[in-house]
Amino acid sequence: MYKIIDGKALSAEIRREIKEKVSAFKEKYKKEIGLAVVLVGDNQASQVYVRNKIRACEEVGIKSYAYYLPKETKQSELNELISGLAADKNINGILVQLPLPAGLDSESALKLIPREKDVDGFSAENIGQLCMNGESLVACTPNGVMQMFKHENIGLKGKRAVVVGRSNIVGRPMAMLLLNADATVTVCHSKTVDLKAECLKADILVAAIGKAKFITADMVKEGAVVIDVGMNRDENGKLCGDVDFENVKDKCSYITPVPGGVGPMTITMLMYNTLIAAERAV
Ligand code: GUN
Repeated sequence: MYKIIDGKALSAEIRREIKEKVSAFKEKYKKEIGLAVVLVGDNQASQVYVRNKIRACEEVGIKSYAYYLPKETKQSELNELISGLAADKNINGILVQLPLPAGLDSESALKLIPREKDVDGFSAENIGQLCMNGESLVACTPNGVMQMFKHENIGLKGKRAVVVGRSNIVGRPMAMLLLNADATVTVCHSKTVDLKAECLKADILVAAIGKAKFITADMVKEGAVVIDVGMNRDENGKLCGDVDFENVKDKCSYITPVPGGVGPMTITMLMYNTLIAAERAV
């Protein structure tokens, strides 16, 4: 019998805790917590994400500063904005929504975000700290997955964890977090030889590939915990993950659905990182 990990419910619970802490912070220090959100261009998915991030700020009492820039924005203009936010004492966190429009270099822009305001956890310094199991702001999606393990009392020590996908945003930091939690970690990717054999070894399987229903039942060990980070459309245009949920679920001890699994946790962890950044700044 499998259990569905309800990311929506857990997310709501954590947001309530964050809201209380934000309120206590404001009361204690008589100041706001500020998150700057920068969106360049008119990518529709990005617009939805940014809208949800701003709504989450309102929900927990964080003050959001939204910057909507046209897709024709020059690199120098974007970089100037970020440098200004980096120096602004009212801003505790800076988030530049990715992807940037063609012609803009995200690396050059993201480099201007100081480590302590890097609430996405994307900077080389934060990633480096994570690799050394040091103090860092951790990328929101993998950190949300870790909260799910914690909440469900899923032990990781000595477990075989397989992460499918090696992106900087999810796969790599996810692997590091699992390693820091004493799991034995394998990272698989498009060049992996015999992906199925690797996945079948997993006690914990994290799918972060970006391909609809890619993980099928024959790739999953009986009793595995399956975490689906994917967000795709199936052949009928319906939202689905990287895991073939209907066929995989009966093999699992735990599984996350899409939607309503990892997705809601990401923005919640952004709120958490912004609170942490503010607390570290006082
Ligand atoms: N685009 C897709 N996911 C993310 C994210 O977590 N942060 C940012 N900044 N952009 C994204």
